[in-house]
Amino acid sequence: MDDPFLQLREQILSCNKCDLCQGRIHVVFGEGVPDAKLMCIGEGPGYYEDQQGRPFVGASGQLLDKILAVSGFSRQTNCFIANIVKCRPPQNRDPRPDEREACIPWLMQQIAIVNPAIIVLLGGTALKGLIDPNAHITRYRGQWLTWHGRWVMPTFHPSALLRTPALKRDAWEDFKKIIDKYREVVNPQHHSDYH
Ligand code: URA
Repeated sequence: MDDPFLQLREQILSCNKCDLCQGRIHVVFGEGVPDAKLMCIGEGPGYYEDQQGRPFVGASGQLLDKILAVSGFSRQTNCFIANIVKCRPPQNRDPRPDEREACIPWLMQQIAIVNPAIIVLLGGTALKGLIDPNAHITRYRGQWLTWHGRWVMPTFHPSALLRTPALKRDAWEDFKKIIDKYREVVNPQHHSDYH
């Protein structure tokens, strides 16, 4: 087995670097196109993700898939979806800083192998994990950051959009920017039903 992504997957699936390994049913490695130019990063698995071993399969995943589809993206064709932590925190609490720190090196390796041009950070945990532990999503969302030569767009987590539908308007503005950037740096012919 010399595919580096498969090798990394094997390592992540047997990880026990933090206590979250004790309560998990499945490690959620991530899912999508292994050389996608767009990568979405969420927080961590919830109940359904832990049951199935796949990211974003519950209610917020359905909304994420819908937003991506309208924007011309999907995990089947041109996107990779990962999380800051790969194992479900008990009762879906936010991952603790020590859990994020234990897990981030795996995400760094995933990013290095997928090599996305654009990273979408879904919510505060992804923003804190990748960019700055003190950052707040409400201040950063909608603004392009550059990070290790990649474009990074923080936006709201889909679960925040489900809780507070008024935030959807801002989220769509963020996705317009993502579509524009994808056309600029990846594929000028990129088709979206939305923008
Ligand atoms: N929420 C996340 O942040 N990630 C998932 O995989 C599912 C729900």
